[in-house]
Amino acid sequence: MCGIIGVTGAADAVPILIGALHQLEYRGYDSAGVAMVVDGGVWRARAAGGTNSVSALAELAQDAPTGHAAAIGHTRWATHGAPTAENAHPHIDCTGRIALIHNGIIENHAELRAELVAGGHTLTSATDTEVMAHLIEQGMAGGASLTEATRSMLRRVRGAFSIAAISADEPDTIVAARHSTPLVLGLADGMALLASDVPALIGHTRQVFALADDELAVLTPGALAVTTLDGTPVEPELLTITWDVEAAQKGGYEDFMSKEMHEQPLAVADTLLDRRGAGGELILDEMRLSPDDLRTIDKVFIVACGSSYHAALVAKYAIEHWAKLPAEVDIASEFRYRDPVLNERTLCVGVSQSGETLDTSEAMREAKRLGAKVLVVSNVVDSSMARAADGVLYTRAGPEIGVASTKCHLAQIVALEVLGLYLAQILGTQPVSVTNEILNAMEVLPGLVTEALSRAGEVDQVAAKLTDARDFFFLGRHVGYPVALEGALKLKELAYLRAEGYPAGELKHGPIALIEPGTVVVGIATRNPLWEKMMSNIAEVRSRGATVVLVADDGDEESAAAADHVLWVPPTYPLLAPVVGIVPLQQLAYRLARLHGHDPDRPRNLAKTVTVE
Ligand code: M6R
Repeated sequence: MCGIIGVTGAADAVPILIGALHQLEYRGYDSAGVAMVVDGGVWRARAAGGTNSVSALAELAQDAPTGHAAAIGHTRWATHGAPTAENAHPHIDCTGRIALIHNGIIENHAELRAELVAGGHTLTSATDTEVMAHLIEQGMAGGASLTEATRSMLRRVRGAFSIAAISADEPDTIVAARHSTPLVLGLADGMALLASDVPALIGHTRQVFALADDELAVLTPGALAVTTLDGTPVEPELLTITWDVEAAQKGGYEDFMSKEMHEQPLAVADTLLDRRGAGGELILDEMRLSPDDLRTIDKVFIVACGSSYHAALVAKYAIEHWAKLPAEVDIASEFRYRDPVLNERTLCVGVSQSGETLDTSEAMREAKRLGAKVLVVSNVVDSSMARAADGVLYTRAGPEIGVASTKCHLAQIVALEVLGLYLAQILGTQPVSVTNEILNAMEVLPGLVTEALSRAGEVDQVAAKLTDARDFFFLGRHVGYPVALEGALKLKELAYLRAEGYPAGELKHGPIALIEPGTVVVGIATRNPLWEKMMSNIAEVRSRGATVVLVADDGDEESAAAADHVLWVPPTYPLLAPVVGIVPLQQLAYRLARLHGHDPDRPRNLAKTVTVE
């Protein structure tokens, strides 16, 4: 998730861009850059200053030219290519006369890059974005306008994008378009503006127009012309924004947690983007570990903390089932203080949203010392763990600001399951037809998560009935067990309620003594081969007076008959079910936190990133 901004017709464009980039920093801050048409060419400044990239850019741009020509700016959340100044946007073409910014992921960038290089273009970054500037260059060299060349370029790229391009040949024009990622436009005082999100525009206008998917806009001073990608005119319908900047950064949601829960479909979709080759096979180029490195692996160890640990537990089932490799999962803070048995045939996978959690990074250091190959699954590009590891697989959830992990947890499950399938592909443990079937099922997960999210009102009704409850058990079997652990963690950290996640079959070995009337048992009862056994465990707690809430597949009346309340979810492939099944439990914890008067973005005693032991 990056932030983009553009303005044409401003008396002094660069300060407007920098101010807007500060408002967009919540979308990423790995690097920042601006470009503007000046004196028949393109002037550009870029900086990669860690969390202070926009401020570093402001320093660099102190002597920026003034003028009211077209100008664009970008703040980056790195996906393809390290967070360096060379990879910072805007990207330019070979002539230096075209500049382009992009939020999203271009899936077919590798083949386009190869084609451009073979055609004599020189690309200077490792990004997926740069190919677009060169494709526009090709079109304009053939006599097309910036608009026409952008249209042709968009016919060639596949993936998700909001883009804006400028050219020295058309000094006042910005051409912008979107597919899957957001872009808003506005008019103010002889200017036309664009941005990824409303906060960047609020200081200039409260009348905005949200570009729809597959629409293209041409911005000139004080004017917007919108068409579909194939050229049919669209009449912009302006919205009036009444939020303040902080509310706007939350995208109109009450808090970051709500916003991030709603970003989950996109986080899942982006994490899956560009992982498949032309024949449908998995290609994990970014991973740095080659198929040959992985072919010798005979054991997988996964280490993580908190929600990342729960995602790792789901992966254990997937890796053992698909890749037929023994997979052990350990809490990072325990791992290095026992004597884990690892060697050069072990793949140790660290899972960390931040890539900075001390317990996990130290566990990975220990694994490396013991000779294991070390891979990190991280959301933050070039995080400490990503730099220290032999390989890296990025989740692409964008910055997660809420302390409770939501969208990153889903993206981690998906990334780890992709890893499981990739190992199966390398080791030949599954027929291609099976991996294809699972990947196809993964690709529809964003839609199922959207559907699950749309039922928040029903979850709220259940939460309202549980306001007085103080003791919760979350039970699951198979991959439902990590879902139970995660559901309990969410309830503890957000609503400060006692909640225990437990493997349902283990309850009878002790904890069932705690079940009494008033205890709430939340069971993960989505269908899998252990569903019948799960339902027996539910009968055991029900007969002891527990109030039973079940997460069940749509239409499963047999499950519903055993519950006091049902949280319905759309069904999916059993090993993928945690991606959908956790959604109502996040919502339940969120709503109970609100009902108890707690701010879900700032749970007490917690920090987003834990860098102490
Ligand atoms: O950044 P990490 O993924 O390494 O963080 C791990 C845990 O601290 C984190 O998942 C924590 O449990 C969250 N607050 C859970 O919502």
